[in-house]
Amino acid sequence: MTVYLTRRESFCASHRLHSEKLSEEENRKLFGKCNSENGHGHNYFIEVTVRGEPNSDTGLVMNLTELKEIIHRAILDKVDHKHLNLDVKELKGINPTTENLARAFFSMLTPAVPKGMLFEVRVFETEKNSAAFRGEN
Ligand code: NI
Repeated sequence: MTVYLTRRESFCASHRLHSEKLSEEENRKLFGKCNSENGHGHNYFIEVTVRGEPNSDTGLVMNLTELKEIIHRAILDKVDHKHLNLDVKELKGINPTTENLARAFFSMLTPAVPKGMLFEVRVFETEKNSAAFRGEN
């Protein structure tokens, strides 16, 4: 009887999307404002979903306060109000697209979440755009 439990958090950060494999012009065309030379900011949201069987005594898959603290320690303390390209060692060398952030955040959370419980990390760069990673190849 598996139940999925999700906690939503937010953070603010700046980034610059830029691929070394593309020309300056191709980068500008593809990434638009996100290619802005000195970066620009987003109000990000992150949703972390864990899964498990609700405890028969408490009815909980996980204490949400505990999940909130894990997300803060593993991710938000490192990225909130930072420049994602420059200030976060876990993101060094990564083009910080929403897709790549979802993947990186999943890796950052893996050692912090009880084994086998982390199901999905979804990152929203805007209200309308999000990417999710479930640890699959
Ligand atoms: Ni952007």
